[in-house]
Amino acid sequence: MSLDAARSDLILGLVGTGTMGRGIAQIAVAAGVTVILVDALPGAAAKARDAVAGMLAKLAEKGKLSAEACAAATSRLKLGESLADLAPVHVVVEAIVEDIAVKQSLMKELEAVVAADCLIATNTSSLSVTSIAAGCRLPGRVGGFHFFNPVPLMKVVEVIGGVMTEGWVVEALTALARRMGHAPVKAKDTPGFIVNHAGRGYGTEALKLVGEGVADFAAADRILKGAAGFRMGPFELLDLTALDVSHPVMESIYDQYYQEPRFRPSPITRSRLAAGLLGRKTGRGFYAYDGDKAVVPP
Ligand code: NAI
Repeated sequence: MSLDAARSDLILGLVGTGTMGRGIAQIAVAAGVTVILVDALPGAAAKARDAVAGMLAKLAEKGKLSAEACAAATSRLKLGESLADLAPVHVVVEAIVEDIAVKQSLMKELEAVVAADCLIATNTSSLSVTSIAAGCRLPGRVGGFHFFNPVPLMKVVEVIGGVMTEGWVVEALTALARRMGHAPVKAKDTPGFIVNHAGRGYGTEALKLVGEGVADFAAADRILKGAAGFRMGPFELLDLTALDVSHPVMESIYDQYYQEPRFRPSPITRSRLAAGLLGRKTGRGFYAYDGDKAVVPP
């Protein structure tokens, strides 16, 4: 099998139109790919289409995209009512909840709809691509395509081949990433791949540091940005990613490494998740948000 990622009539199905799905849809339509948006939550795909159209319009206002290119990209955003509308797509990218059972069940539903040569990619942050594909009729067509938030600005993507992934899938995802202006980096199918494995040294250690009372979270952010040169502090990053995504990622990496102590998640994120302090998306995480402005809550 093969997929010509450069074909001008490429159609991509995007399942899960939250933070990541929107970003992926934006870079895809900007690169001339038609995108069909599908979400399990009624109204969510339409909301996502409007949000992506708004982002493209902003780029046009700033002169980063011509008016014609903006109109053409926006016209390539299509709404799907259900997975059944993905029958014509050449490639599907899923960006739904980070839960292995839910992703596995989505794979089965997708396989019942799409063509036998359709590539299926998962944007999972931490789960095993091999396990996500395990129940598939054709697991060889499933690969990892792990973008970073915010997708249009973070111009790198991890391309992951699982145990059963066929070579053409990795090659096609690599080519598709380049077409969308992103630099692909190949990674082995291991817990957290590259970034979320190495990132434990940043996020998990910073949480330990705060848990041990070495510094408060805002001080840790300030010093890690100012002295260590990171663009965002670990707590700013947790607020951007949102704890309903990052805490399960931390748990999943810990479990997949057989409770390796250095990956142990923090009770701090578990209790803040339970309290609904997810981050920017709920208006309060470690910081409180007034639009884009972050303040330290009293
Ligand atoms: P999100 O919560 O913003 O969006 C998830 C969307 O999926 C929601 O619109 C929800 O209604 C929909 N959904 C949930 N279950 C569904 C199902 N069974 N079928 C169809 N739609 C369904 O989540 P976000 O942040 O976009 O994350 C999505 C995926 O991307 C996760 O696997 C996450 O680990 C991964 N990821 C997240 C990053 C981040 O910084 N937020 C970074 C890189 C990867």
